[in-house]
Amino acid sequence: MKLLVVGGGGREHAIIKKLKENKEVEVIYAAPGNGGMGKDAVCVPIGAKDIEGLVAFAVEKKIDYAVVAPDDPLVLGAVDALEAVGVSCFGPRKDAAIIEGSKIFSKNLMKKYGIPTAAYEVFEDADEALAYLENAAIPTVIKADGLALGKGVIIAESREDAKAAVISMMKEGAFGQSGSRVVIEEFLTGPEVSVLSFTDGKTVVPMVSSMDHKRAKDNDEGLNTGGMGTIAPNPYYTEEIAKECMETIFLPTIRAMKAEGREFRGCLYFGLMITPDGPKVIEYNCRFGDPETQVVLPLLESDLLTVMQATTSGTLSADMVRFSDKSACCVVMASRGYPEKYETGFPITLPEDLEDSVYVAGAKAAEGKVLTAGGRVLGVVAVAEDPKAAIDAAYGKVKRVHFENAYYRSDIGARALAAWEKTRKE
Ligand code: AMP
Ligand code: GLY
Repeated sequence: MKLLVVGGGGREHAIIKKLKENKEVEVIYAAPGNGGMGKDAVCVPIGAKDIEGLVAFAVEKKIDYAVVAPDDPLVLGAVDALEAVGVSCFGPRKDAAIIEGSKIFSKNLMKKYGIPTAAYEVFEDADEALAYLENAAIPTVIKADGLALGKGVIIAESREDAKAAVISMMKEGAFGQSGSRVVIEEFLTGPEVSVLSFTDGKTVVPMVSSMDHKRAKDNDEGLNTGGMGTIAPNPYYTEEIAKECMETIFLPTIRAMKAEGREFRGCLYFGLMITPDGPKVIEYNCRFGDPETQVVLPLLESDLLTVMQATTSGTLSADMVRFSDKSACCVVMASRGYPEKYETGFPITLPEDLEDSVYVAGAKAAEGKVLTAGGRVLGVVAVAEDPKAAIDAAYGKVKRVHFENAYYRSDIGARALAAWEKTRKE
């Protein structure tokens, strides 16, 4: 089989490595991929948002199955366009990808179907939003309606900050069209859990839970990033909570999308907060999370391609998806300065025995070397019997990967480990 994976980050590298385990796979093309995945995929210089280019390539190479991984092409309708030329795909069509593409859509969906989420108001007019903020509870959360490179959510700790966020999004166009409408919502508290799921539109099969670490610095300080590391499973996601989420969130969401005529097939990501009132949805993503995928897929014991194809053909069942009960930890190594200014172009040295443990996000190939080419450069992953062993093993490997100006957090998994140890004592 000839596969095409759309996207070019660490998440895509993890998907590609897992897909390669299937013996039927002859070749995997990555569009655009990155210079660090050369051993696992054939990278082709087609941007993930270049839908016409992707379609032409898929036809030319007679691609048997395409995996569209990032949010942008999904929201733009890449799956619809590929299916229109007969290419079977993993991922939701445009009408279902809107669950991530529009926060207003997803909030209204949750309200209509009684799915627990933060209370909210929608604003299309900046002055009305500013007037509302005069009496809103603080902290409050301002969200741009559309995709904003993960930066469209502002937690405002003061009324002034809240107003500034509204002005920046709605009057100054900080996120272009994406911020012309906003959601202002209640600030929730509690541990966050990421649950990715496979779904064929009728059946939903949650994957192992995980915890992201979004802030740049230790102790969850510093700026928000695309994710500095992950650990799976997430100890806050107990069996009891999992059951509650299935009944109050996962199934109702899948059924709601079907009832709306927007059947969702692919990976639906539930960003949850375990609040004192129970689990609530913070956000939906219409795709695999990054860097959650880098800890979730190494724990998947089933064949990924088979499961993906079942989501496409509507034949998914829970017994097709099996996860190991081990733990996995991913430490992201970034360029020092990220997510602000940083330098790139430094050679990456990676011992051969670690190649299977590294998912490359931001690198380019030049003169036989692999050079850093992004803020987040690569993720180093370890799987072990328990969270402590996974964390220790991941950091052990990190020490053996080198490039100039490397920066990483030293506490990935620490909070999860403390929670895990506490539950074991109880
Ligand atoms: P997002 O960009 O949608 O992933 O949101 C970024 C982060 O903002 C989430 O991971 C949460 O930590 C936080 N967040 C979003 N909505 C809320 C909320 N209603 N209450 C508290 N924190 C929130
Ligand atoms: N890790 C969060 C996301 O993929 O959006």
